[in-house]
Amino acid sequence: MTRRIGITNQKGGVAKTTDTINVAGALAAQGESVLAIDMDPQGYLTHRLGYEDAYASDPPSLYDALESPNEYDVADLVVHHEEFDLLPANIDMFRLEQDLIASGMRPRMRLPLLLEGVDEWDVILIDAPPSLGPLNDNVVLATEELLVPVEADDSSQLALNHLLRQLDTLEDNYSTTIDIAGVIVSNVSYPLDNEQEAAIEWYDERFEGHVPVWVVRTRAAIKRAMKEGGSVFADNAEEVDMTDVFAEIATEVADG
Ligand SMILES: Nc1ncnc2c1ncn2[C@@H]1O[C@H](COP(=O)(O)OP(=O)(O)O)[C@@H](O)[C@H]1O
Ligand SMILES: [Mg+2]
Repeated sequence: MTRRIGITNQKGGVAKTTDTINVAGALAAQGESVLAIDMDPQGYLTHRLGYEDAYASDPPSLYDALESPNEYDVADLVVHHEEFDLLPANIDMFRLEQDLIASGMRPRMRLPLLLEGVDEWDVILIDAPPSLGPLNDNVVLATEELLVPVEADDSSQLALNHLLRQLDTLEDNYSTTIDIAGVIVSNVSYPLDNEQEAAIEWYDERFEGHVPVWVVRTRAAIKRAMKEGGSVFADNAEEVDMTDVFAEIATEVADG
C-alpha cells in the first residue's frame, strides 16, 4: 500500500521544501519508490528540482487535475527526477483556492479524490503551501499523516498551535484521524541562544513519548545540494553530517 505523508506548516521559510526534498531523497536511497507532489502555487519544490518549464507549461497540469480530479491520471502529469518522481506545481495554481471555494464542490477533497487508488509508488510526499487555507486542507485530508517542520523560536510555537487547532477542526468536520508522524526542528544553528534552547525543549515536552522530534542543523551542503537540483543523497552531492537524520525520518515514514 502507498503511504502518503504531508509536509506542512503554514509558516513560510521553516524548511518544508528542503525537508521534502531530503526525506524524498533518503527514501529513494533506501530503495523506496517516491512521488513528491508540489502543492505550493509558488512552486519552489518544482523550481529547486529544475522543472521551471513544467511550472510555466500549458494545461494540463496539477491545476487542471485538482479542478477535475476524476478526469486526470496522476501518472500522466508526473516528471522523472533522477532520485524520485515529481508532480510539479503550475503557475495556474495561484487561482486554485478561489476557484475551489467558488465551485462549492467539496473544495477540500480534490487531492484526496485525485490520489484515490494511486498505488504506483511506495511513498507519496506532499509539500504543502505556506497557508492554513483549502490547499493545505487538501494536503492534510489526502495524507492524514504529517511531518511538521518547525523552527526553534517562539513564533513557530504559536504557528504550531494554530496548525494543531486546524487539524482538530478537520478531524471533527471530516470524521477522520490525522496523525503527526514527527516534528522536524529545522535549520538550527549552534550554539543555541536561550530562546532556541527553550523552543526545542518545548517541542520535546509537547510531543514527549508519542511523536518523534528530530533536529536538522543548518548546513551549507544542504543548500548546495538543492542548488544542484537534488537532495544530499544525490550521486553528485557532497558528504554532510545530516544524512543520518534524514535517513532516520525516512525509516520512520516508510515503516510507520
Ligand atoms: N538545514 C538547512 N540548512 C541550510 N539551509 C536550510 C536548511 N533548511 C532550510 N534551509 C533554507 O531555509 C530557507 C527556507 O527553506 P524552505 O525549505 O524553502 O522553507 P519553506 O518550504 O517552509 O518555505 C531556504 O533558503 C533553504 O535553503
Ligand atoms: Mg516551500
